[in-house]
Amino acid sequence: MDLETLNSRFGGDGISFSVGPGNLTVARLENELGMAELALHGGHVMSFVPGGGAPVLWMSRESWFAADKPIRGGIPVCWPWFGAHPTNAQFPSHGFARISEWQVKSAGKTADQVSWLELGLTERQVAKSFFPQPFDLRLRVEVSDVLSVALRIENTGDEHLNFSAALHSYFNISDIGNIAVVGFDGKPCLDTLDNTRHVQSGSLKFERETDLVFFDCEEDCFIEDSGLKRRIRIAKSGSSSAVVWNPWSDKAGRMPDFGNDEYRSMVCVETTNALDDARTLAPGKRHTLGVVIGVA
Ligand code: BG6
Repeated sequence: MDLETLNSRFGGDGISFSVGPGNLTVARLENELGMAELALHGGHVMSFVPGGGAPVLWMSRESWFAADKPIRGGIPVCWPWFGAHPTNAQFPSHGFARISEWQVKSAGKTADQVSWLELGLTERQVAKSFFPQPFDLRLRVEVSDVLSVALRIENTGDEHLNFSAALHSYFNISDIGNIAVVGFDGKPCLDTLDNTRHVQSGSLKFERETDLVFFDCEEDCFIEDSGLKRRIRIAKSGSSSAVVWNPWSDKAGRMPDFGNDEYRSMVCVETTNALDDARTLAPGKRHTLGVVIGVA
């Protein structure tokens, strides 16, 4: 659908479509309470700014904005596998949803000032070699003083559908030395850097590369940032796992789409169905993975 058609069918009342970086089509949702931008490439939330506040999501200055590459920052939608493909190392990391072009299904504004946009992706829009099974994904993004992102997965085929997934949220922080991630005390954890398991004790502080998967965690978690004097609340649903990631300097240096010093200004706290929390859907069944992000 071209820009003119998108704007005439779905635009108005604070919702507009324009050409963004790398020629990607970007939807902007704005109301009195907040603003968000979303690329149709990847169904990718690129920014969220609550009214009068600082940006909540982080975006790398080195990010690619290209049709065949993921965007580095915001909220990549990882599906139908999280991390590397289980059997084929040539397949894209974190699945194909974040590098696919999503279609706009509907948009609008509720009576209480919540702007929303719904995108869709089915097997008809992606290469069959990646994933032979039929599926129907819907991504609903709602913007007010909080950002809500919900990925609904429906098995439209006649065989069981196995998947893992993430709303791989990158958060903007004052400095990695200033923050604590709270909410995982007492939770089982896999440290993917040395493949060991432990039970988390207390809040998380960051002094080196961190790549942790938490399990049995359905409760809210928080990023406490003494530099920005704010607390970001991350309320998950349909998820009992979470990933906390910061690449630190060496890994950042190996990533072409990530500035060498940028690890200091970001942290990922990801709402996932990862590893032990991967899901199976019987034919006709649905699952929704969701997150509501707000600032206190
Ligand atoms: C995280 C993983 O979710 O994503 C990390 O836990 C990974 O291991 C990171 O490095 C970024 O992945 P990608 O594919 O976007 O470079």
